[in-house]
Amino acid sequence: MRRAIALATLLAATSPALAQDEPLVRRGETLLTRHCAMCHAVGRTGASPHAQAPAFRTLSKRYKIDGLEEALGEGIISGHPDMPEFRFSAGDVGAVIAFLKAVQEP
Ligand code: HEC
Repeated sequence: MRRAIALATLLAATSPALAQDEPLVRRGETLLTRHCAMCHAVGRTGASPHAQAPAFRTLSKRYKIDGLEEALGEGIISGHPDMPEFRFSAGDVGAVIAFLKAVQEP
């Protein structure tokens, strides 16, 4: 019994969760979940609700995540009619970028 609890604690501590104790990453996750999750898969798993919207964890295959920083701060214009324009404050951009980096697939 004791051992099971110890193991569970260990797993929780080492699982590649979204850096639970990283406030910036958590804030990014909250922002993206609020504004983007209706179309994009935000985290490490799951499919995008909108078939054409790329899962955020795959963005680094096509973009440099750092390059998105500017786009996010100045308002993302994807040219896709389904995607509204977003603009994040500088602080929020930092959080979003930190989160995106944390979930990229290798
Ligand atoms: C209403 C649905 C919708 C919402 C909400 C949405 N997106 Fe998108 N997004 C899309 C679609 C669809 C595409 C694919 C566009 C394409 O292939 O032309 C896309 C593409 C993208 C891309 C790739 C850009 C490109 O030109 O391929 C990024 C980065 C992105 N979205 C970020 C975001 C972020 C960040 C948010 C939240 C702030 C967000 N999206 C919210 C639908 C959405």
